[in-house]
Amino acid sequence: MMNMDAKSFISKTIKPALKNSPPGEWMPSITENCIRLNSGYPAPALVPDQELKAAVVRLLDEERDLPLHYLGSPHIDKLKEQIQDRLDERGMRVSKEELLVTSGACQAIDLIARILLDEESVVAIEAPTYMEALEIFRNYTNQYISIPVDEHGLQTDLLEKELEERKRTGLSLPRFLYTIPTFQNPTGTTLTLERRKHLLELASTYNFLIVEDDAYGELAFGESPETLKAMDKEGRVLHIGSLSKVVAPGMRIGWVAGASDFITTLCWFKKDLEHPFAHSTMATYLENIDFKVRLEMLKNTYREKCAVMLSALQENMPESVTWYVPKGGYFAWVRLPGVDTSELLEKAMAEGVAYIPGKHFFLDSVEGKEYLRLSFSYADEKEIGEGIKKLGKLIRK
Ligand SMILES: Cc1ncc(COP(=O)(O)O)c(C=O)c1O
Repeated sequence: MMNMDAKSFISKTIKPALKNSPPGEWMPSITENCIRLNSGYPAPALVPDQELKAAVVRLLDEERDLPLHYLGSPHIDKLKEQIQDRLDERGMRVSKEELLVTSGACQAIDLIARILLDEESVVAIEAPTYMEALEIFRNYTNQYISIPVDEHGLQTDLLEKELEERKRTGLSLPRFLYTIPTFQNPTGTTLTLERRKHLLELASTYNFLIVEDDAYGELAFGESPETLKAMDKEGRVLHIGSLSKVVAPGMRIGWVAGASDFITTLCWFKKDLEHPFAHSTMATYLENIDFKVRLEMLKNTYREKCAVMLSALQENMPESVTWYVPKGGYFAWVRLPGVDTSELLEKAMAEGVAYIPGKHFFLDSVEGKEYLRLSFSYADEKEIGEGIKKLGKLIRK
């Protein structure tokens, strides 16, 4: 019998990607009693399980088998309308042809990379950035421009310098810039209005697209800033949203809003890999709640949890340790000068607290060595206090 070599069947375009670290390597393997300051998940108590159960019952009572067929129920169109209404409220008026509902924001990122990137395409990213987006882009190209983020978000002056230099020396300009301008993962920072304007000008001057990942955009502790999509006059912004952080990640519902030519091409590759049942359940759930009331409740809860984390940091960390103050979202980004946070993680987990080491959010794993990402979303207030206390003790040692 001949030995079958599975690797020899893998496509040439896929093979280079398999040299990267496997997906999800950044996820610490957490023991049961460990306080999860690593998890960028909603707080368990805020996931509306009973309301979603009621939505399933209502949907099936009303429509019987319809939502369980390929084509699904009229509620699928309803979900699109509900997303359009929410975008409209935030100054983003999009038609049906300019909106694609996806299996979470992650599928949106993947589909965008798939239709826009060639092997030699350059992607501009923030340093640091969302590690799963990095994993996705690495499947398509290894050409990057990595621009640092400070407390006011992406440093657009540095981006401009890089673009000028590339143009001058004949290097390729980026196909798109991937940014999380509002309550960024992992830094929690928000791009200022001036930088938003500057970024849109740069996109126009140097002819690239902007992929705006707005997964946390509605979770503002004060006002939500205007999105790049709402400010965009040229159709250069592909705006990604998600219901994972405000309803439930397991429903896998996200979207892309952008110029219809892009959306048509994205649809081409998404084909009918829909989840009609999840979409119609979500639409039924949304039509039976007041989303504004829910959003207020979420904002208040996360604002309080964030405040607990910040005051615990203040109380327990040595003076050399610094962090940004988030104005929304799920995360705090902490700098521990001289500490390798990957090495520290094992000890932290032995003490019963987990976080994500900063290196996973950078292209180059040497960067970010002194940083860690804390999430205040998942753990409860008592756990947040205890977790930070444990970390503080360990760092002081
Ligand atoms: C910036 C960012 N984009 C996208 C996602 C993923 O969203 P979804 O669950 O909708 O795929 C996350 C989740 O952590 C995120 O932080």
